[in-house]
Amino acid sequence: MPTDPVAEAAPAKINLCLHVTGRRADGYHLLDSLVTFAGVGDRVTVTHGKGLALDVTGPEAALLVPEADNLVLRAARAMGVADAQLALWKTLPVASGIGGGSADAAATLRALLRLTGRSLPSAEKVLALGADVPVCLALQPVRMQGVGDLLSPLPRLPDIWCVLVNPRVPVPTPQVFAALTTRQNPPVPDIPPETLQSAASFAAWLATATRNDLVPPALTVAPILAQVQTALSTTDRCLLARMSGSGGTHFGLFTTQAAAEAAGQRLRKARPDWWIVSSALQR
Ligand code: C5P
Repeated sequence: MPTDPVAEAAPAKINLCLHVTGRRADGYHLLDSLVTFAGVGDRVTVTHGKGLALDVTGPEAALLVPEADNLVLRAARAMGVADAQLALWKTLPVASGIGGGSADAAATLRALLRLTGRSLPSAEKVLALGADVPVCLALQPVRMQGVGDLLSPLPRLPDIWCVLVNPRVPVPTPQVFAALTTRQNPPVPDIPPETLQSAASFAAWLATATRNDLVPPALTVAPILAQVQTALSTTDRCLLARMSGSGGTHFGLFTTQAAAEAAGQRLRKARPDWWIVSSALQR
């Protein structure tokens, strides 16, 4: 068993597309989404200790509403851990459509698994922590279906770089789903293997064959997201600009690291008040 501390990364989750295909009787929506991860994110560190305590630091810690830190503590409790010191280094904006609290909860489970040797909670308990926790626990590119619980690995993706842009306006997921009017949309088609040969062909396929059905309701919750979409989509060499999850973070896809970093720099200059990072996407 490892000695403490044990640290786990909580990378940003990116929904390359997100189709809403139905709604269950309990109000939860059926989703069909291609998900991968960026190389930026939060970090959870756990050590042995008496009682459960959480310390939150990092550039985005100040904005943290109880929701996300509760998820870290709830993840620990779901594992039956009553004694541990938990530290969360927060770099992802809160309520931003890229995992955030779910990524933190999944990282907490992984870290406590290593620290304590306890087993992970049941699939039902993991899902109950949040619909995005199973995918964040998988931590590999997957097709996510059901309410977030059905995961199947994707074929190897092409080398793609991204710029993530968030206008620093929290967009609460329940509000976005509540504003959704079209709930029965077609599923995500299977990825044609030939489109996986390059970032450009994959992005072109994503643009024409897939969508994010949460864009219209997210725009009603946070109209500023239209500016984010325009800023990214008009950036030089951006292959595709789209919102992730329930927003408001948008991603732009680029062929090379240089193109993504140049785009990130230009956008940061134009909007120093926005959260803007560039990163490779997990393949
Ligand atoms: O599971 P999580 O707490 O992340 O979900 C937040 C809210 O998003 C839920 O209360 C629900 O309103 C909505 N949601 C949904 N269908 C999903 C996932 C989330 O309607 N598959």
